[in-house]
Parts: sequence; structure tokens; C-alpha cells
Amino acid sequence: LKKVRTRHFQSAKENGIKITGLTSYDQLSASIFDKAGIDFLLVGDSAGNNVLGFDTTLPVTVDELIPLTRAVAGAVTRAFVVADMPFGSYESSPQEALHTAFRFMKETHAHAVKLEGGQRSAEQIHRIVSAGIPVMAHIGFTPQSEHGLGGHIIQGRGEGLDQLLADAHAVEDAGAFAVVLEMVPATSAAQVTKELRIPTIGVGAGPDVDGQLLVWTDWAGMTTGRIPKFVRQYANLAGVLTDAANAYRADVANGAYPAPEHNYE
Ligand code: KIV
Ligand code: NA
Repeated sequence: LKKVRTRHFQSAKENGIKITGLTSYDQLSASIFDKAGIDFLLVGDSAGNNVLGFDTTLPVTVDELIPLTRAVAGAVTRAFVVADMPFGSYESSPQEALHTAFRFMKETHAHAVKLEGGQRSAEQIHRIVSAGIPVMAHIGFTPQSEHGLGGHIIQGRGEGLDQLLADAHAVEDAGAFAVVLEMVPATSAAQVTKELRIPTIGVGAGPDVDGQLLVWTDWAGMTTGRIPKFVRQYANLAGVLTDAANAYRADVANGAYPAPEHNYE
């Protein structure tokens, strides 16, 4: 099985083959998604909400993401692993961004890094790419700037389309190999996808993009809270685990577990 490389993202776009991505934060899910042929796994700072117990991604640190990224990168044989750079680890300067990217590349076996922002992050992207590290950009709704944007608000709509296009071209020109478009109207995402040479990866960006990415815990029905409108739930893991926990509790209470076959002589 050929490892996924940045050139496969490019050739997928050129050949009209859709790219698939999921987030992953641990070895077991990473191994399953890799074997299922998911092209890339993002160790997202959405780990803040889904693993670490925060309300937002803002408190997440590099030190917290490194062990998760190492677990995911160590579990795959084919999938391309992208390490998400957390809030406060790259914005100050291209030097800071490169320092953080080096940490992810040296302390995990990730294949690329991702950071948020279009024009405002172009110098950071250029610096990291110049050091030989592929960068996945992320524009549209960028969760790390939730407070600056005034909430979970759709971007690139109406007059916002000009900014979205400017951001898209800025990250392409800076050398990003792909760009995530989060929560933008389908028509805006389609226009970005048509104008760019690099592939676009949609998260709530409609069908006319080059690939799709979802947060795995939303996608698999593991999340019990509210999930965004754009998610299709492909499983109900929370329901499966709730049923299992109830059955186990009842079996232990009434003596049905353990049974003779579980005992050591
Ligand atoms: O952290 C994350 O999961 C992400 C994607 C939703 C784009 O950044
Ligand atoms: Na993220």
C-alpha cells in the first residue's frame, strides 16, 4: 500500500478523485481509519473539546497535542498525518511558527502541520514550507478566533466572499499544499475550488470541493452534545457504548457475568 504524500493530494485534484479525511486523537481510531483507506488523519486541536474536556480549542497546548499526534502517526501505514498547531503557538512570528512546526515533526512522526488563517498567516506558512515541512492551511470559520469572529459564524458569504478568495490565494501563494474551508456557503467553496490549483478540503463547505474532513467523534455519533448541521453521523457509538455499559452493569449485579468460561482454573 503506497503511503499518501502531498503529490497524491495534488493528483487527486487534477484527476477529480475526492480526498477523505477524519480527525483522530489516538492509536485505535487511527489504525481503524488507516486500514479503511481514509487518506489523511488530522490530529486536530478539536482534541480540546473531544478528548481533553475543554469548551473550546483555545486552551490546548503543543505539549498536550504531541503525545496524541505521536499515537496517531505511529498507528498508520498509509494515511497522511497532519498535526494541528494550537492557538498561541504560531501567530506571533514566522520564527515561532517554524519552532512549533519543528517540534511536531521531530517529536512525532506527523507528515505535515496545519494552522489557521489566510492572509494573516501567509508569512508563517511560507517560512514553514521553506524548511521542507508541508502546510495545510485553514480558512473560512477558524475556531481559534471564535471570539474575534463573534461566534460560530458562517464565513465567505455575501461580501465575505472577497476576503475568502483573498485568503485562499494568499495561502496558495505562500506554498500550502491544501486548504481546509470550514463553514462556508457551498457556492463560495465551489468558486475557491475552481480558482485554486491546490486542493480544497471542506468541513461544512458543500460538495464542490476536492475533499471532505469531519471530526471523527461527531461523524461516529460518539459526541453526545450538539453537532453541526453539516455532519452526517455514520454510526451511533454513544448508543452502542451506553447499551454495553447498561448490559454490563446489569450482568454484574445479577451474577450473569463472569460466567464459567471466563474463570481461570
Ligand atoms: O481541529 C480540528 O478538528 C479542525 C478541523 C475541524 C478542520 O481543525
Ligand atoms: Na483545529
